[in-house]
Amino acid sequence: KLVEADLSDPNTCHFLVGGTTGSGKSEFLRSLLLSLLYHHSPQQLKIALVDPKRVTFPEFEGMSWLLSPIVKDCDRAIELMAELVDEMEQRYRKFERAKCPHLDAYNQQLSNKQNLPLPRIVCIFDEYADFMAEKEIRKELELSIKRLGAKARAAGIHLIIATQRPEAKVVTPIIRSNLPGRIALRTASEADSKIIFGGNNTEAAYLLGKGDLLYQKGGKLERLQSLFAERIVLP
Ligand SMILES: Nc1ncnc2c1ncn2[C@@H]1O[C@H](COP(=O)(O)OP(=O)(O)O)[C@@H](O)[C@H]1O
Ligand SMILES: [Mg+2]
Repeated sequence: KLVEADLSDPNTCHFLVGGTTGSGKSEFLRSLLLSLLYHHSPQQLKIALVDPKRVTFPEFEGMSWLLSPIVKDCDRAIELMAELVDEMEQRYRKFERAKCPHLDAYNQQLSNKQNLPLPRIVCIFDEYADFMAEKEIRKELELSIKRLGAKARAAGIHLIIATQRPEAKVVTPIIRSNLPGRIALRTASEADSKIIFGGNNTEAAYLLGKGDLLYQKGGKLERLQSLFAERIVLP
């Protein structure tokens, strides 16, 4: 049974993905990315990829869906998030002038005038904790995430953020309260599981690994198996 999430739904517009090393976070992000590419053309969808370890998305470099080249260092990551905030604000100004409440209404109006739609933008961020060590960087990234989390959905901009260290220092209350959709792969401890779900749920510590996951949507938890997309070895 294939489960898909609707990014235009307020409960699943932004995701936090947590799990220990080897639990299957990067593979989950890759299959999620492939699903997005399969369903939407580069005119309808732009993708921003952040890959500090440089091993998650190698085959996607240069694809026509990319908003900008794959981001690998923290200065660019900060810039990218600030660019997304700017894009969001610009879109809100356009919506206001057109008297439209959100992206779909605005695009409908554009298509009535035979104009191309504004694409949705999905930012997929692997290994978020890699950039959280320095306080200044953490503050800047968090500020952007907070602003995007609060109102990017209506503008058609979505965040999917994965971390191997779902501990309180990395997954701060700001991050948590702005990323409503949750995916937990196997965590290293019960405490990490609780941090991902934001309650007393320790179940993620007892998952099997390799893509075995819990998906929290609203108040409901579903246990699922992540898809696995074999890597293409480029010549
Ligand atoms: N959905 C899956 N199905 C089968 N095997 C998987 C799946 N996800 C991950 N694995 C296995 O686990 C390994 C580690 O996955 P990876 O996504 O790199 O973990 P992480 O990013 O959490 O460290 C993969 O190389 C693969 O062998
Ligand atoms: Mg990984």
